Amino acid sequence: MSRISYALGAVSLFLVAIVYKAASETTSSLSPQGCRMSYMSPSYLLQPHFNSSWTHLAKRYSLSLYREVGWESNEPRGVPVLFIPGNAGSSHQIRSIASSAARQFYSSPYTVSPEFSSRSLKPLDFYAVEYNEDLSAFHGPTIEAETTYAASAISYILSLYPANTTIIVMGHSMGGIVATSLLPSPNISAIITMSTPHALPPARFDRRIAALYDRNHAALMYDSTPMLSLCGGAGDLMIPSEACILPQPETPVYRRTVFSSALEGCWTSVGHQVMVWCHQVRWRVARAALEMGAVESMGELGAILDRWLRDGQTVPHVSSLEGLDVNATLHEILPAERILALHKPTEARTYLLPVPTGATNFVLYLAGGSILSMKPRSAIPLLADVRICTASSPSPSETPQCNSLAPRTLELIPDIAPGRPFPVPHEGVDESQGIVHFEAVVPVMSRESDGARWVAVSVSGADGRGWVMGGFVDNQVTEKAYSIHDMLYKDVSIPIDKPSLQTEVRLPQLLSNALAVYRVTAVYSSQSCSDVRLPPLLRHTSPSEAHFHPLTHDRPVLLHAHTAAPFIPHPAFSDRGVNLTIFSSGECELQALRIRLDWWGMLGRAGARYWAAAPGWAVGVVIWSIFLSWGIQDVGGPVPNVSESLSIFTRAVLPSMLAVAFFASFLPLPVDYLLGNSGEAFFSPIAPTLLLMVTGLVHVSWWLLCVLMWPLSRVGRMTGRQRDDSGIRKNTLFSMFLIFILVFLIIPWQVAFLGCWAIHFFTCATHTPPPPLAPSSTTPPTSVSPTSRYPPRSRSPPPPSAAQTAQTHLNAHHHNTHLLLLMTWLLPLVAPVLAVWVRTLATAGLTTPFDGDHSFWTVAPYLVLVDFASWTRSSFLQREDHEFVSIRWFWIPPALVAFFWGAYWTYEVFDWVWIVACLMVVIRVGPKYWGGAYWSSASTRSR
Ligand SMILES: *[C@@H]1O[C@H](CO)[C@@H](O)[C@H](O)[C@H]1NC(C)=O
Ligand SMILES: *[C@@H]1O[C@H](CO)[C@@H](O)[C@H](O)[C@H]1NC(C)=O
Ligand SMILES: *[C@@H]1O[C@H](CO)[C@@H](O)[C@H](O)[C@H]1NC(C)=O
Ligand SMILES: *[C@@H]1O[C@H](CO)[C@@H](O)[C@H](O)[C@H]1NC(C)=O
Ligand SMILES: *[C@@H]1O[C@H](CO)[C@@H](O)[C@H](O)[C@H]1NC(C)=O
Repeated sequence: MSRISYALGAVSLFLVAIVYKAASETTSSLSPQGCRMSYMSPSYLLQPHFNSSWTHLAKRYSLSLYREVGWESNEPRGVPVLFIPGNAGSSHQIRSIASSAARQFYSSPYTVSPEFSSRSLKPLDFYAVEYNEDLSAFHGPTIEAETTYAASAISYILSLYPANTTIIVMGHSMGGIVATSLLPSPNISAIITMSTPHALPPARFDRRIAALYDRNHAALMYDSTPMLSLCGGAGDLMIPSEACILPQPETPVYRRTVFSSALEGCWTSVGHQVMVWCHQVRWRVARAALEMGAVESMGELGAILDRWLRDGQTVPHVSSLEGLDVNATLHEILPAERILALHKPTEARTYLLPVPTGATNFVLYLAGGSILSMKPRSAIPLLADVRICTASSPSPSETPQCNSLAPRTLELIPDIAPGRPFPVPHEGVDESQGIVHFEAVVPVMSRESDGARWVAVSVSGADGRGWVMGGFVDNQVTEKAYSIHDMLYKDVSIPIDKPSLQTEVRLPQLLSNALAVYRVTAVYSSQSCSDVRLPPLLRHTSPSEAHFHPLTHDRPVLLHAHTAAPFIPHPAFSDRGVNLTIFSSGECELQALRIRLDWWGMLGRAGARYWAAAPGWAVGVVIWSIFLSWGIQDVGGPVPNVSESLSIFTRAVLPSMLAVAFFASFLPLPVDYLLGNSGEAFFSPIAPTLLLMVTGLVHVSWWLLCVLMWPLSRVGRMTGRQRDDSGIRKNTLFSMFLIFILVFLIIPWQVAFLGCWAIHFFTCATHTPPPPLAPSSTTPPTSVSPTSRYPPRSRSPPPPSAAQTAQTHLNAHHHNTHLLLLMTWLLPLVAPVLAVWVRTLATAGLTTPFDGDHSFWTVAPYLVLVDFASWTRSSFLQREDHEFVSIRWFWIPPALVAFFWGAYWTYEVFDWVWIVACLMVVIRVGPKYWGGAYWSSASTRSR
């Protein structure tokens, strides 16, 4: 084993450790989580009438109805809702949302809250399917079984209700995929998914999941059922949140993606499991479902979802602007300064702010109260409305003519308590917290002589709580053409001209990608900036996402986005451009923002997204090493052992492959190629780095195999067990037939593959031949160029000497160990289904159909190879006479597939390797089975 192998193995282990550390730190550093726990008194009523006369899956899964104990009767009589849990999820996860719905609908046990009784709304009946914690993320047929069951469950549930009742479906994680697969269905009124990977399956080992995603994509694009996807952002460790974004439909159907970091009143990233119980999210989901029960039309459903799960990206519905009395007489007119600042107001008043020349926008902040019915959930009575007034003379003594000023933006932004972390860990945002942000365009005056203009702010309901702050901002945007290359290792400073209520910063050239993380530090002129109403608050907006960060002295802000990302097609958006908005009461003197790239964060983000690429690429590395070792044998050299062929690969091939990987990263390939970056030049170093790491890991995996084989090989030597080389074992065909029957009837082929691996491992461990003494074996294998053409073979082979026989045995052993390494790296591709099977076996028993996994042919070539390896000592994979070209060249396509596609659709790699395994069996191994004369074939058969 060469020194370079040790170095490479050590380096990649070190890198893996670093990336792991970075990835596990990103969630808390990029976007901390602040969620309140939810409490409930749950009960789950099993639905025994939903039995096998409804669905053949009745024995495997179950359906239950949630009831809040002591709050509502057990009779279902409201609007049905179906909850579908995700991968390894439980039906009990519905309890938080269902309990919140009950406690919002009933103000006290069995008493309907006046808010709902006056509007003839119905309570919700939450049904939940129990999938026994099936691992649906790894196995297409499992998702299909779940979908079939959910569809029957909907039919059953609706049979309990009056005709034409529709159902609301909620799905968590993969449950959202099941929910989407139910479409099209006239029985579903709307779908809310939580942390669901719509765009990209989290585990890409199963071809059937890919097919399912294709079908779902069509439904997402064209089905008219309203859908809303809630995403957790950087705090979601299980799925990358870019996968949670719904594709933009071409038809006008309601599709909304809401990030919890932008969700009003939540403003935190939410972990994958936390999404169902985070109080700030659950009551909004429950409320939206309650309100949806009363409406029929798709448009109204969408409006309700927009209202209760609002993320500031949609301007509120126009109907909410009603109630503004434009003709109301002004209470009292006070000439005000340019900035209106009221702290804890106690009197109802109207303030007139003269419109300065050049002003284009008016901004008003109101903490805790409401403007035009936009308010935090438990708002204080403080109320403000904004009008634009004109008078012919500049004196306000004459009653001006006032009109309503329609907002351009009306939203809630977080109210950050100075000195406390944001969001507060384990607590998050309070329901009374929130600042209403009102922004309106002040109409341009036609002529200077038209008189004076004011913006009138009427404040009412003032009871000494809250504050109001408003003023004019010129619509100037700080725009800088910095690109990511300006920030690689040094700060870029963006000056903030003067204190203003609202500042816009745009960096249109800056790369905005899930892998890019920027560190922003605020520079203040004075140290103390405490006790201000609105300390500078930064909002980072990207399409479909917004994130608020307090700009404090001590903690830098890590900007990250999810729209453009590896493997995600994003035709609708550009991946350039970072938009920042700073909200501030102008009391702190913010001088500049310093931005630089955050390498640690980027490492973590890349690590979390690319670990799944490692198995596919590792198979590619192993294949290439096998290709090289066969090449040496083809030209007559001794077959190198695994360490040797890995170091040949590392020295002879890896450098050029690193270069190819680097330059291929610049090609504008489709998103499913290579690492899914579509030729983004900045990410070109990722591919060679990953290739280097994967090569190192293959080295390490081989050392591990050696360590594992060592005890067995000692036992093998001590017992001196000899191989049975006397002929083809008669029971080979019989055992094959037995396995065929087993795979066909009971076990999935993945289990048989694991069995093959175990047998082969045992074969390799116990049949280690002693190294031959012949000098030929000491020839370093590198002296034979693996790519040189064939030398003519000797026509009359000499009789095999003892040294030659030993060399033949050694060659066979080295072939076997190469095969072992290959099968070891194929294991991660089959292991997930294996886990699903074991899990299903434990919960549902053998009766469960495991469709599509009983294909004996998938495992057959490995069975033959492993069986052959266990009884032959001849160099069984030598080139045969009848080979027109050496079949080693057939290793090239799977290797290319592994590198170009393996990171995305890993199952393709398995299929391509399977083809070569079949060729090996048919061309090289098969003849020795039916030819019978296996022993003489390799070395002594006349050519
Ligand atoms: C299923 O339940 C219905 C209603 O309870 C009952 O009539 C039917 O016989 C049941 N079917 C089976 C197969 O148990
Ligand atoms: C159900 O809907 C269909 C079609 O919209 C209508 O013809 C039928 O009368 C409705 N039935 C009830 C009971 O409302
Ligand atoms: C809709 O529900 C009814 C029962 O109310 C059922 O008969 C029908 O098959 C369902 N349609 C679909 C598409 O699931
Ligand atoms: C406001 O006053 C105008 C004229 O004085 C009148 O036409 C209009 O109907 C009034 N609007 C409301 C909402 O009272
Ligand atoms: C930034 O804002 C500008 C102007 O509103 C808009 O055109 C652009 O698409 C935004 N970019 C991003 C990345 O949101």
